[in-house]
Amino acid sequence: MNVLELSHVTKRYGAFVAVENVSFTVEKGQILSLLGPSGCGKTTTLRLIAGFENANEGAVMFSGVDMKGRRPYERNVGLLFQDYALFPHMTVAENVAYGLKHRNFEKAKIPDRVAEMLSLVRLMGFEDRRPGQLSGGQQQRVALARALATNPEVVLLDEPLSALDAKLRQELRFELKAILSAVNATTIVVTHDQEEAMSLGDSVIVMSAGKIMQQGPPTDIYANPKTRFVAEFIGRSNWFTGQLTRSVKGIAELKANGGTRMFVHMLDSSRNDGVFDVCVRPERIRIGAAIESSEDSPVNEMRGTIRDVAHLGADLHLVVEIAGGQLLTVTEKYYGQALEQSGQEVAITFLPQDCIVVPSGS
Ligand SMILES: Nc1ncnc2c1ncn2[C@@H]1O[C@H](COP(=O)(O)OP(=O)(O)OP(=O)(O)O)[C@@H](O)[C@H]1O
Ligand SMILES: [Mg+2]
Repeated sequence: MNVLELSHVTKRYGAFVAVENVSFTVEKGQILSLLGPSGCGKTTTLRLIAGFENANEGAVMFSGVDMKGRRPYERNVGLLFQDYALFPHMTVAENVAYGLKHRNFEKAKIPDRVAEMLSLVRLMGFEDRRPGQLSGGQQQRVALARALATNPEVVLLDEPLSALDAKLRQELRFELKAILSAVNATTIVVTHDQEEAMSLGDSVIVMSAGKIMQQGPPTDIYANPKTRFVAEFIGRSNWFTGQLTRSVKGIAELKANGGTRMFVHMLDSSRNDGVFDVCVRPERIRIGAAIESSEDSPVNEMRGTIRDVAHLGADLHLVVEIAGGQLLTVTEKYYGQALEQSGQEVAITFLPQDCIVVPSGS
C-alpha cells in the first residue's frame, strides 16, 4: 500500500521551476532517500508534501487521499527540517510534547507518550533540560522524538544529521535507521551525502535541477546508473569516452579518446552507434594481470604507472597513470599485503561487464 504518492508535481517560483514533474511513491514502513546537489529542489519537495507550499501542477496523496487544500496542521506529518531547530526556551519534554498538544492528543496521556518517545531515542532522564544543555547528537535525537511523537503517517527528515561531526553522524545514522524501523515509519530523508542516502534508504531518488534523474534501490543505482550525472553523484568513477565500433555476443569495442581500446558489455545492441561514456568503478579495477582472457570472455588489460598510494585504514586508494596520461583511481582492500610503490609499472585489468555504458555527456 502506498502511504505517500506524488503524481506529476511541479512547483514554480515565478518563472523559475524548482520542482518539475516529480512522481514517486513510498510504501508503508519504507525509507526513501532524496539525494542531489544544493538547490536541486529537495527541501521544496518536502515542503510540498508537508503543505507549506502548494504545487502548481500535480497531486500529493496520503494513502490515496488528495491533500490539495489541506493546511500543514491538517496533514499527519512528522517533520525534522533543516532550519527547524528545537524551541530553545522549552525543556526537552515540552519540545517532544509540542506536536501532541497541537494535535489534540488526549492531554492525560501526553506524559506517557513523551516518556515513550524519549526512551525510543535513549534520552530518559533528560526531560527537564533545555536544548542548550544538550550535545548536537542529543538535540537531533530530541528533534527526532518530536517528529515521531504524533505517530505521523509520513515522516519528513531534511538533512537530519548534517549538523553533526563525521563520527557522530555515522553512529546516529545507524540509530536513526533502527528507530524508524522500530516504529515502522514511512519516511523521506533528504541528504546530500550519498553514503547516508544509500545506507538509510530502501530506495534512492537522485535529483538534479528540480527533476528526478533516477530512482531505485541503492545497489541498483550504484551498479546501473543511467546517466553520467548519476554515476558521478553515487560513488567514485573512472571515465572513458569514445566510439563503439562493433558488438559481438553482447560485447562491443570502445575506441576511447587517447587511443585506449577496450571491451564493454552491451546488453542492448540497439544502442551501439555513436559516442558513449564508460564508467569503471575503482574497486572493479585490479592491479596485476590476474584474470584469464579468452575470445569469448575478453579481459581489458592496460599498462600503467602507479602515481600515488594512500593507505586509508581498511582501504587502499591508488592512482594509476595509463596511456595518454589519464589517471585512474583504483581501490583495494588492505589486509597487510605488500604495497605498490609510486613509480612502479603495473598491469591493470577489468572485465567488460564492469564497464557501465551511458550516453556521452548525459
Ligand atoms: N520561496 C522561494 N522563492 C524563490 N525561489 C525559491 C524559494 N524557495 C526555494 N527556491 C529556489 O528553489 C530551488 C530549490 O530549493 P531547495 O531549497 O528545494 O533546494 P535543496 O535541494 O533543498 O538545496 P540544499 O541542499 O541547499 O538545501 C533553489 O534554486 C532555491 O533558490
Ligand atoms: Mg534543502
